[in-house]
Amino acid sequence: IRVAVVFGGRSSEHAISCITAGAVMAAIDRDRYEVVPVGIARDGRWVLPPADLRLAVEDGVLPEVTGEGVPLALSFDSGASRLLALGGDGPAPVEVDVLLPLLHGPYGEDGTIQGLFELAGVRYVGAGVLASAVGMDKGFMKLVWEARGLPVGPYVLVGDREWRRERKRKIDEIKELGFPVFVKPARAGSSMGISRVTSEEHLEAAVEAAREHDPKVIVEAAVVGREIECGVLQGLDDAPPEVSLPAEVVIQGEHDFYDFETKYLDSATSMEIPPELPSGAVEEMKAIAVRAFETLDCEGLARVDFFYTADGRWLLNEINTMPGCTPSSAFPQMWAASGLDYPALVDRLIQTALS
Ligand code: DAL
Ligand code: MG
Repeated sequence: IRVAVVFGGRSSEHAISCITAGAVMAAIDRDRYEVVPVGIARDGRWVLPPADLRLAVEDGVLPEVTGEGVPLALSFDSGASRLLALGGDGPAPVEVDVLLPLLHGPYGEDGTIQGLFELAGVRYVGAGVLASAVGMDKGFMKLVWEARGLPVGPYVLVGDREWRRERKRKIDEIKELGFPVFVKPARAGSSMGISRVTSEEHLEAAVEAAREHDPKVIVEAAVVGREIECGVLQGLDDAPPEVSLPAEVVIQGEHDFYDFETKYLDSATSMEIPPELPSGAVEEMKAIAVRAFETLDCEGLARVDFFYTADGRWLLNEINTMPGCTPSSAFPQMWAASGLDYPALVDRLIQTALS
C-alpha cells in the first residue's frame, strides 16, 4: 500500500506538521506501507523533498519544507490517486492508495485541501470538508455544539468589520465576560496568536495580535479548572467512535498557559495519563467527546480538549481534526497508554481511510 505523507503547508503551524511527519514516517510499518513524502512549502508549492530533509527540532531550530526538491502536482484526470512529479525528464506519475495529510491550521486542517482531495477522487485520512472547516473555526465549532446541547463556556465573537467599526460596543460585550479572558484567532492552532488578558487596558493589543492570524477573533471567559484532553478514533466497521484515556497537561515554570513555547520548545511540561479524576468523570467525558466528534461529522481521528471545572463540570474547549503527533504531543501518548502504540495508531488511521 502506497501512502503519501503530506506535511508542511501554508499555515503558521508548518513546523509542527513537519515534526509530526518525521515521527509518523519513523513509526510507520515499512513492511506494509511504502511511503511517498510530499512536502508543501510555506508558499504552497508541492515537492518531493530531498531525502535528507530535517524533520525534527535541532538546537531549538524548527524544521521547514523549503521548496527544494522535485516539483509535484496532484492530478485530477484519472480518479486514480495520482501524484505527478514534474521535475527531471517531465511528468512522472506516482500512484498512491491513500493520502495522509498531516497538516495543521488553515489550508491543511480547514477543509480546503480536503476539497482538493475530494475533487481528485483520492482517499485520505481524517475529517472531510465540512467537519474540517467547522473544526478549524472556534466560532462555528462552539455554535454547533451549543445548538446540540453540548457544554461550552461563555465567549464573544469579534468579526473583522465589527472590530473596525463597532469596537466600543464589542469591548463592552467582552467586559461582560469578566477578566481574565483568552483572546484567540478563530482559525489557528498551536496557541498561535493567543493571549491571556487580565484587564481592559491590554484588550485591544491582544485582539490586534490575534487579528494578525485571522480577522475573525474569539474571546473566551477564562475557566477556573483543569485542562484535560482525549483522543477519539472513528470506530471500525461502523462501531461507535473510541475514546482514549485522558491526559492532563501540567505546566511548570513561568508560562501562564499552554502556549507555543511550552508545547514544542520547552521541556517544562509533563503529561499525566490518565490524570486523577473522580469516579464517573472519565465516562462522562468520553460520552461528551463522542458526541462532540459525531456532531461535527468528524472522521478518522480528532483530539477533544476540555476544561474540568472546579465544581466538577466538563466544558468543551475545542476539537482538533488533525491533532499534533510530535513526540511531545498528547494524542499519540494517550493512545499508547490506551494500548495502541504509535505504529498501530498510524496503521489504524490508514486502514480506516481505506475501508
Ligand atoms: N494544532 C495542534 C497541532 C494540535 O492541536 O495538536
Ligand atoms: Mg486547535
